Parts: sequence; C-alpha cells; structure tokens
Amino acid sequence: MSGIPAGVVTLQDYEAHAAQALDDGAWAYFSGGAGDEITLKDNRRAWDTLRLQARVLRPLAQGHTRSTLLGHTLAHPILLAPVAYQRMAHPDGELATAYAAAAQSAGLVLSTQASVSMEQVARAIVSDPGRGPLWFQLYLQPDRGVTQQLVRRAEAAGYEALVLTVDAPTSGARDRERRTGFKLPVGVRAVNLDGLPAQPPHQLEDGDSALFQGLLAQAPTWSDIEWLQGITRLPILLKGITHPDDAREALRCGVSAVMVSNHGGRTLDTLPATAHLLPAVADAVGSSLPLIVDGGIRRGTDVLKALALGARAVMIGRPYVHALATAGALGVAHVIRLLRDEFEIAMALTGCATLDQIGPHVLHLPAPR
Ligand SMILES: Cc1cc2nc3c(=O)[nH]c(=O)nc-3n(C[C@H](O)[C@H](O)[C@H](O)COP(=O)(O)O)c2cc1C
Repeated sequence: MSGIPAGVVTLQDYEAHAAQALDDGAWAYFSGGAGDEITLKDNRRAWDTLRLQARVLRPLAQGHTRSTLLGHTLAHPILLAPVAYQRMAHPDGELATAYAAAAQSAGLVLSTQASVSMEQVARAIVSDPGRGPLWFQLYLQPDRGVTQQLVRRAEAAGYEALVLTVDAPTSGARDRERRTGFKLPVGVRAVNLDGLPAQPPHQLEDGDSALFQGLLAQAPTWSDIEWLQGITRLPILLKGITHPDDAREALRCGVSAVMVSNHGGRTLDTLPATAHLLPAVADAVGSSLPLIVDGGIRRGTDVLKALALGARAVMIGRPYVHALATAGALGVAHVIRLLRDEFEIAMALTGCATLDQIGPHVLHLPAPR
C-alpha cells in the first residue's frame, strides 16, 4: 500500500493498518513489549491519566513551537526514536523514515541496528536545510575498537550527536516474539555491523550464567562513558535513564542530555511509565541537563504534558513504524504532522504561545482533600 488510508486521522489509527500489513513475527517484534507488557500499557495510560488545565484570552498571535537543543534549532520538539530493522516494515526502511523526518523538520535518531547503512541515511538528508537534528544511536560493542569504528563512521557521515543507549545490556524477555517464533527475514540485518569482527563466544565454566558471565561479561559501565568522551567531540546523550541518581551521575560525567526512557516497555517489565519517572529526574537535574522523554506518546496533549513535566523534547517509536508499514515515507511524514498539529492545538488551548510558557501550571492537579 502506498497512500494514506481513508479514515486515518490520528497516530493510533495507523496501528490497525500496520497489523494488517505486517506478518505475525514482524508485528510481534515492532509492537510487543517485555514480559506481561505492563510497562508498555502503563506508558500509554500514564499520559492519558494526566489532566490539562485550559487558559483563555491569552495572546497567541506570535505563537510558535521553536526551541534550541544542543545548539540546533528545533522547529518543534518531536523526534523519531531509534528503531531497529525498519526494512522489515517497508522495503525503503530507514531511508523512507529519514526523508519523512527531514520533510517535517523532525529530529532523527538512527539505530545502530538500522537495516540501511548510516552513510546512506545521512547522505539522503544531511544537506537538506530544513531537516532537524541527525543523531546516531550507539550500542557500545564488546570490543572498543569496533565501537570506535562506528563512532568514526558516524562522525564522517555527518551525525551531530551520539545517543548512547544504556538500558538494554540484554533484551527483555519478549514473549510475544518468542510465541510467534520471530526471526529476522532474509535480507534484513544490522548492516552497520557488517564486516566488523564478531566477538568470540565467552568460555563458560560449570556453574557460570550464560547471561552474567556470557553476554554481560563485557557490558558497559560508567567508566565507558569517560572513554567514549575521550574518543569523540560529538555531544553524547544517554538514553534509558529512569532513576534520579543515574541522572545525577550522567550530569557529573558531563553528558549533553539525557533521555528518560524505559525502551518503550521492551526491557524491564513493570518499570513505571515514563510520565511517572520524568518528574523525579527533572527535579534531580532539570535545568542543568536537557531531558528528552519517550514511551507511549501518541497525542499532542501527551507532548504538552511531557514538556510540562520538564522535558525539552519527546521521541516517538512505534507510531511512525506503524505509519511506515502502512504508507512508507508519506505515512511517517503524516504522523509527525498530525502530532505537531495536535500539539499546537493543545498549546493554544492551554494559553501557551511558546514552549517556554509551558510549565506545571498547564496540568490540572486535583485539589487536596
Ligand atoms: C521495534 C523497536 C525497536 C527498537 N530498537 C531500538 C534500538 O535499536 N535502539 C534503541 O535505543 N531503542 C530502540 N527502541 C526503543 C525506542 O527507541 C523508544 O525508546 C521506544 O520505542 C519509545 O516508545 P514508543 O514506541 O511507545 O513510542 C526500539 C523500539 C521498538 C518498538
């Protein structure tokens, strides 16, 4: 399918179309979460539960959604989160997503596990004057030499920041995928890792855990942040911070921003919703460190609530992949536009002409009993 199906007027409307377009395994991969998917559901519910407060008769004629983040002007605070293997959703995969992001001036974070090469994606949009920020999401590889090669390639291709994902040293238990027997289809793979030396399997001894002494034997720690800072001049953002103390540690390490994220409910199930985690992180580091939040953001009112709770920007994951599967680049561009339009409406109706006028006062808090 190529056009936008009739009747699609919200992000969530794309979900049913994507379910039709994708096979069972791909659907389980893109839509599922870890365990009982409690965090996945909570992410959504938490934004829904917050209530907004309208304000009237405010001057709005000079309103706009611009801001600056890491020295880049954002036309609006909506970015596309890193999502792996997008060619499973559409033959053009990450390339279609990149064109759509650039056309809608949205920031783009490309996954280490992208199914189109980071050079090809960057080449497609890097010289578009209207595009948003272009960032590379990095998973630290067990071998520092391999990580360094990825960093050098990202720098050379024109990526403007590294988003280091720190909340997934192992995948969560993703039961939906296991039930469908999900495997990557032939021809879809993490092409950025092609040709890089594979890590020899860890020698396990009797009684060793395949997880702790195997996969996690060389998992990154805080000291790797310092190492990474030492090999690149690109700003580093940490993605997957949920505890205020980890946010303070990130600040102490001198990273440029933090993403409050529970990986869209795909890692530790029963971790609270990001709408509930964000306020404590904002209290801990708020004005010293820009915060970006993701997880369950589907409505312009969610974007407003996220900014009211202390975020400078938001990211969306599944909604744009659902749109990609349904209508390719056009669908992704449509999703960004829909969310931005809804956000502008929410700003106007809460009396906010600019992002700096958004604060906790736009939230309606129940009166104490
Ligand atoms: C199918 C899928 C693949 C993902 N792949 C990555 C990835 O490669 N790297 C990463 O940091 N996060 C990854 N994420 C997490 C997203 O970046 C983001 O945190 C999450 O999707 C936000 O929640 P939402 O989907 O409810 O908007 C992935 C998420 C999904 C749904």
